[in-house]
Amino acid sequence: MLGQFWLKCNSKSLKLSMRSSLGGFRILVICLFLVCSIRTVTAEDTISMGQSIRDGETVVSAGESFELGFFSPGTSNSRYLGIWYKKISPGTVAWVANRDSPLSDLSGVLSINLQGDLVLLNSTNYTIWSSNSSKTAQNPVAVLLDSGNLVLKDKNDDDSTDNFLWQSFDYPSHTLLPGMKLGINFVTGLNRFLSSWKSLDDPSKGDYTFGIDPDGYPQAYLRKGSDILFRSGSWNGLHWTGASTLKPNSVYTYEFVLNENEVYYKFEILNNSVPSRMVLSPSGQLQRFTWIDRAGRWAPYSATMSDQCDNYDLCGAYASCNINNPPGVCGCLDGFSPKSPGDWNIFDWSDGCVPRTPLNCSETGDGFLKVSAVKLPDTSHSKADKNISLLECDKLCLDNCSCTAYANLDVRDGGSGCLLWYGNLIDIRDYSDSDSGQDLYVKMAASELDIIRKRGQFSKKHVVIIVTSVIAAMGVLAIGCIAYMLRKELKNQGRTENTHQFLDQSNKDSRESEMELPMFDLTTIANATNNFSNNNKLGEGGFGPVYKGKLIEGQEIAVKRLSTTSGQGMVEFRNEVLLIAKLQHRNLVKILGCCNHQNDRMLVYEYMPNKSLDNFIFDEKRRKLLDWGKRINIIEGIARGLLYLHQDSRLRIIHRDLKASNVLLDHEMNPKISDFGMARTFWGDQTAANTSKIAGTYGYMSPEYAVDGLFSVKSDVFSFGVLVLEIVSGKRNRGFQNPQHNHNLLGHAWKLWIEGRPLELIDESLDEACPSPEILRCIHVGLLCVQQAPEDRPIMASVVLMLGGERSLPQPKQPGFFTERNLPESLESSTSKHKFSSNNEITFSLLEAR
Ligand SMILES: *[C@@H]1O[C@H](CO)[C@@H](O)[C@H](O)[C@H]1NC(C)=O
Ligand SMILES: *[C@@H]1O[C@H](CO)[C@@H](O)[C@H](O)[C@H]1NC(C)=O
Repeated sequence: MLGQFWLKCNSKSLKLSMRSSLGGFRILVICLFLVCSIRTVTAEDTISMGQSIRDGETVVSAGESFELGFFSPGTSNSRYLGIWYKKISPGTVAWVANRDSPLSDLSGVLSINLQGDLVLLNSTNYTIWSSNSSKTAQNPVAVLLDSGNLVLKDKNDDDSTDNFLWQSFDYPSHTLLPGMKLGINFVTGLNRFLSSWKSLDDPSKGDYTFGIDPDGYPQAYLRKGSDILFRSGSWNGLHWTGASTLKPNSVYTYEFVLNENEVYYKFEILNNSVPSRMVLSPSGQLQRFTWIDRAGRWAPYSATMSDQCDNYDLCGAYASCNINNPPGVCGCLDGFSPKSPGDWNIFDWSDGCVPRTPLNCSETGDGFLKVSAVKLPDTSHSKADKNISLLECDKLCLDNCSCTAYANLDVRDGGSGCLLWYGNLIDIRDYSDSDSGQDLYVKMAASELDIIRKRGQFSKKHVVIIVTSVIAAMGVLAIGCIAYMLRKELKNQGRTENTHQFLDQSNKDSRESEMELPMFDLTTIANATNNFSNNNKLGEGGFGPVYKGKLIEGQEIAVKRLSTTSGQGMVEFRNEVLLIAKLQHRNLVKILGCCNHQNDRMLVYEYMPNKSLDNFIFDEKRRKLLDWGKRINIIEGIARGLLYLHQDSRLRIIHRDLKASNVLLDHEMNPKISDFGMARTFWGDQTAANTSKIAGTYGYMSPEYAVDGLFSVKSDVFSFGVLVLEIVSGKRNRGFQNPQHNHNLLGHAWKLWIEGRPLELIDESLDEACPSPEILRCIHVGLLCVQQAPEDRPIMASVVLMLGGERSLPQPKQPGFFTERNLPESLESSTSKHKFSSNNEITFSLLEAR
């Protein structure tokens, strides 16, 4: 019975995955799934002299882990010779031979030629790929090993690496398999690095590479072309200094080897039924996948480039990046100050920092400041010596004028060895909040050290307060000055309303941005919307009415006419809109332009034909159109959009009014969050703060926000959790009724959860023959997001991983606001003073609540 159940589930989730446009890897898995439906003729693991493999025939490794043959990736018709997984996740391609020279038909033949090389011939017997080994053997055979390594060796030799004349592991494609070395052989010059596919349909070499760079002290770089995108940091004996998450675990072991002959990184899996692989995706994501998903999907385990501070050299020289300090994540190291303070204050950190006091370069004139818990700077201009102590290291650095810093080479056993930096210190990351990272000793003038030490004698708290208030005061002053100057200039222009003229006389940055964001004039918009006719009105959003429009060129648009009471100046408005325009993500509604006519302000968005999510999930008929595949796609999309706002975009944005009516659906039912950045536009940009203006929607607001006006990313997480439970159940949180209790939807879900009946929450119109484990996971994640205490709720990055089935989920605690009676009285009474339409959805804005 149970077996049958699962069989059905599995075929279902397969369909789901194909429908889901998210998660490219999934599609890859599925597409390649189709590949393996080709006939398996040969079941041998060996090709000998005189034998050949034709298209349609395959070689299978002895333990049946891997298979070698011809395939077409994705929707491509071209044929490639490759190696893919055979037993688990069949069809996931791990290696491609002729990635840059595809076969156009089924005529490919693989054999061993007279020189003892593996060759791939096309219909005209032209060699389109060859192993080109430099060594030869008496009796060469090609064997596909169970590790996924295709090797060429003498028939009588055993399977040890020294015997291989050639091996596919030396020529990685986009995948690092267990046992494969990533790195460089200094003797032969062989450099093994990953290079991405062009697209899921095209395995030819794409833009991205990931490999070890031997300059200075070796470290791994992720590059796009020759540009470095991400740096792993150097190896400190335990892990890469930029990858503190690399820890002993139950899935794989790893090692880093550096000697005069070679440098490499390698991992081995501990249990063959729990495989692991590292893949460089066509979009440059370096991800590790481990197999856990019951539906047959590779589950992501970790990924690089997961936050802003992973961007290589984001902060410039002598600065460090701390992800917990948004939006200004970059900060100069102690004793250094921004080289271009103007740019620095508008978050352009590229010029970095310079010493406040120049170095003396004499034994007595300079010293070192210990900077704790950092990802060590780029080591491409550094020298390492494992036999030198830290004390000698200090002396060596002091003696050489071009030495700028030093650190322990190896952190094991309390630290040993010496790593010395010459030149600028770049790409440092501050890990002081997470307790990982390493100590770095930065050289600076002795007089500067004195100042820092004296300052340290103050209570630290005082310093922070003094410094912040000084900075704040200066900031207010500066903003005031700039605003005043801009206004004055504007007046001098003769009060014209011509926005272009206004834009032209502002700085170069806005001129660049102007290209990105068209200004529409009022006539255009009035024409497009039939003069804002009621027939064109799509609805009333939190910030004013929204109209549908059609530009003369035929493009459909949605125009949001902002209520005029925002009290915001034109400069601020324009800057904010430019900022929103820079936020681009597939799960955020795209802003096309704006219009500002005598304080009549409008934002122009792409038009979403399927309107908003609430039109579907809360509608008797239309909710049937949303099967589970679409719903999970919507949930995951919202999660990614929100994660981008919270973490991945250059500035941290808290939405503050996430709800079903703010999630729009495009023609393929992909979710797009709208009204993001509006909160910022209208309420300033603190990340966690106390506000006297509460904006939000009942049913979606977290307790700490509704009651105390305290908001943080965790209040968005709460709203997201509500949304997830609404999508799963098809019911609104507020206004939810159940004859058995007074709880709202959260309370109902919680009750079902603790009573062990969570599946009863699922929308009856979700006609699933079997409730997928995915649905259960969504309910679980939803409950984790709506927990009473903000610190218990996960951040969006974890939510995305949890939804992907990667993390084990903790037990949720009681949700916040789970009965209507939980609402604070003050709120109840103050809201009653406001006029509410009968639907509970309307956004309200409370001035000076409490
Ligand atoms: C390997 O993993 C499988 C599946 O998770 C498990 O059943 C088995 O006990 C594991 N074997 C070892 C040796 O840990
Ligand atoms: C300082 O170190 C650099 C890099 O190792 C070296 O090229 C230079 O000669 C050294 N200078 C002195 C004065 O020793």
